[in-house]
Amino acid sequence: MSFAARPLKRRELYPRAVVDGRPLPDGAPARWGRRAGRLLTSAGEREEAELERAIRSQPGAGRPNTLAVISPKGGVGKTTVSFLVGSLLATHLQTWTIAVDTNPDYGTLGDLAPEGLRPTRSLADLLDDMDHIRTAAHLRPYIARLPTGLHVLRAPCDAELTASLSAQRYGELLAFLSTFYELVVLDCGTGVGRPLARFAVERADQVMLVSTAELLTANVVLSALNQLRHDRTTLVLNRAHPALRDNVHALENRFRRERLHRSITVPDDPQLATMLDTGTYALEALARPTRLAIKRLGLAAADQLV
Ligand SMILES: Nc1ncnc2c1ncn2[C@@H]1O[C@H](COP(=O)(O)OP(=O)(O)O)[C@@H](O)[C@H]1O
Ligand SMILES: [Mg+2]
Repeated sequence: MSFAARPLKRRELYPRAVVDGRPLPDGAPARWGRRAGRLLTSAGEREEAELERAIRSQPGAGRPNTLAVISPKGGVGKTTVSFLVGSLLATHLQTWTIAVDTNPDYGTLGDLAPEGLRPTRSLADLLDDMDHIRTAAHLRPYIARLPTGLHVLRAPCDAELTASLSAQRYGELLAFLSTFYELVVLDCGTGVGRPLARFAVERADQVMLVSTAELLTANVVLSALNQLRHDRTTLVLNRAHPALRDNVHALENRFRRERLHRSITVPDDPQLATMLDTGTYALEALARPTRLAIKRLGLAAADQLV
């Protein structure tokens, strides 16, 4: 008999309420300081307005699209990018979007839903019941509907069960979901050589390849490139620290030489991490550099919808 450890509840790690990715209470002076900061206008504000306009003027999906988010490295932000991009297209383009946790090992995508919004059923249950589901209403019990408008289909909690699902089964799932959604985001597990990752890249209309700006990670990503060639690939340099600015430029040049011309850098932002950890994501409450990066990511995805 096996015993699964009891999962931690959010309130065990975050006993104080979290608003906009920060624990409360914080004294009134801090709040006033933040408010004053928000009143400042800047070039960043204009850039953001431009980005907003550009995203909202995209034509959207002409047919069901698939976006695969992949990386040969774990912990670089695949799940985060899947969530951010899916959420942005759902809110800004009103694209019917579902993110699917295709991680073979305890994916965390489903946990990004606030507690209370997480369905107990997983993609394995949906695969079992798919033949009887004809309408969006029937699909509802399997899906977490996040406050951002993004729908999420979580992985099974049983790793053995997940491992038993073949790429072909995921293909059936993808075909099924494409009858309901305009965009299916596949949050892939770590690695690019496994059948599931290969399947995801093969079936995808576009790929987001996630790295960090550190040499070791970038080198692993570079060496995996030949396994995941895809014409519509966006490189995401995630968790970029200001000290890594020179690395970012050097990496962008290097990847451009590998014919990867589109790259988006996302800052390392503890506020974003806390929001994700507490199920309290609010794009507009993030600092502008992070917000801009997320909107650039969204624009890159929207621009490559077919
Ligand atoms: N830009 C970022 N700033 C701060 N934390 C981040 C950022 N991107 C991801 N994280 C955090 O890093 C951890 C790993 O991210 P995750 O998306 O789960 O990686 P992966 O899916 O590639 O394993 C998570 O705790 C997440 O909140
Ligand atoms: Mg993940």
